[in-house]
Amino acid sequence: MKIAVIGTGYVGLVTGTCFAETGNQVICVDVNEEKIEALKKGITPIYEPGLEVLLTRNIREERISFTNDLEAAVQDALVIFLALPTPSGEDGSADLKYVLQVAAQLGDLITSYRVVVNKSTVPVGTAEKVAAILSEKLPAELFDVVSNPEFLREGVAVDDFLKPERVVVGAGSERAAKIMEELYNPFVRQGNPVYFMDTRSAEMTKYAANSFLAMKISFMNEIANLCERTGANVDWVRIGIGSDQRIGKRFLFPGIGYGGSCFPKDVLALNLTAKEHAYDFKLLQSVLEVNRLQKGRIIEKLRAYFRNELNGKLLAVWGLAFKPETDDIRDAPSIDIIEALLAEGATVKVYDPVAMDNIHRKFGDQLGYSANQYEALQDADALLILTEWSEFRNPDFEKMKMQLKTPVVFDGRNVYALEKMKEQGFYYESMGRNTVPF
Ligand code: UDX
Repeated sequence: MKIAVIGTGYVGLVTGTCFAETGNQVICVDVNEEKIEALKKGITPIYEPGLEVLLTRNIREERISFTNDLEAAVQDALVIFLALPTPSGEDGSADLKYVLQVAAQLGDLITSYRVVVNKSTVPVGTAEKVAAILSEKLPAELFDVVSNPEFLREGVAVDDFLKPERVVVGAGSERAAKIMEELYNPFVRQGNPVYFMDTRSAEMTKYAANSFLAMKISFMNEIANLCERTGANVDWVRIGIGSDQRIGKRFLFPGIGYGGSCFPKDVLALNLTAKEHAYDFKLLQSVLEVNRLQKGRIIEKLRAYFRNELNGKLLAVWGLAFKPETDDIRDAPSIDIIEALLAEGATVKVYDPVAMDNIHRKFGDQLGYSANQYEALQDADALLILTEWSEFRNPDFEKMKMQLKTPVVFDGRNVYALEKMKEQGFYYESMGRNTVPF
């Protein structure tokens, strides 16, 4: 099948590459010429495990190509995916300007039947808005608008696309539904379902899924805070509740608050949708508040330890990306935490395996940058762990102690066992567990 993917961001690139991988002819379009030139050579602008290998192979086999020319792409493709950014507007609403602009352009370019698919996370009713724009220029039989939200986790996005737990398709016509079914068939051969529904329900499904997961994390963050105050250990509580299948083992890890390009934006946007419909979504508002507070918990711990005197302290930070296996720092809790540390007069030295360039672009010379995890520790008063990269899990503890001025670790991701830190002689504070004293 011939497919066009408009927008070569995270979602567009993974979508295009994975459809090419199953034998489709894919053309990816972007307004950014530099990006398109790099992609033609197989260079991806993002760090995503497995993506570049697949991309290079599909370029070589001529199943995927890149262009700035929207018209050429639309002429050929039966299915046109919109994978455009929907940034948060000032009030938290998803800004649809890119999606609607491209829809207007498509109205001028489509000459025979096309399926226009919204891949971007868009508020309920957007598929209808796109259809209304297309209708201004095109008769109804020339297009269908489909809502097909993605559920890709950064770091494992390729795998998530190739082996989805489910595919959600909001389609208004049998014809479009059949085309989508054919397209996704190779990915669901093990029996995972493709759910067909109306476009509004598909759009809501995406927001409900992400908001539910954000709520699950926030709930565990609050349980963790309470564990600290009651002397319980959240590790045990997590295991104890997670084995109940109604709760599930996943997404129960407390930390420094959720971040990334989806959860913060989507929870805000759903809350706004609720407001627009005069519905007071109390639970969602609490999720927003709990997550805001959670990012400050580790600062509170530091303040308490340093007796409110962070000024002049040298703090090492391991991990900046919003989660491991990505260089993405969008809405990463590390940003708020580092900003708070700087505001209190601390000096901050950072290390991350892949997000250094991104954090440098954000903070410039306000921070110290280290070539490796141990260098960051030199003479530091404490280490903060903000992303649970695998390479932090089994470090050389002796080397850590030699580098640090004092062996003090504040772990926002519960990377180490309490016994281990005790045995190694660290002062160790983590999330939802007892402090290991000196
Ligand atoms: C998420 C959704 O999982 C995906 O389905 C959706 O389409 C896009 O948004 P992603 O943003 O890549 O994916 O990351 P995810 O793995 O879901 O983690 C989001 C945030 O929650 C991270 O900051 C992570 O550290 C945090 N998190 C996750 C926790 O704090 N605890 C957990 O148990 C799980």
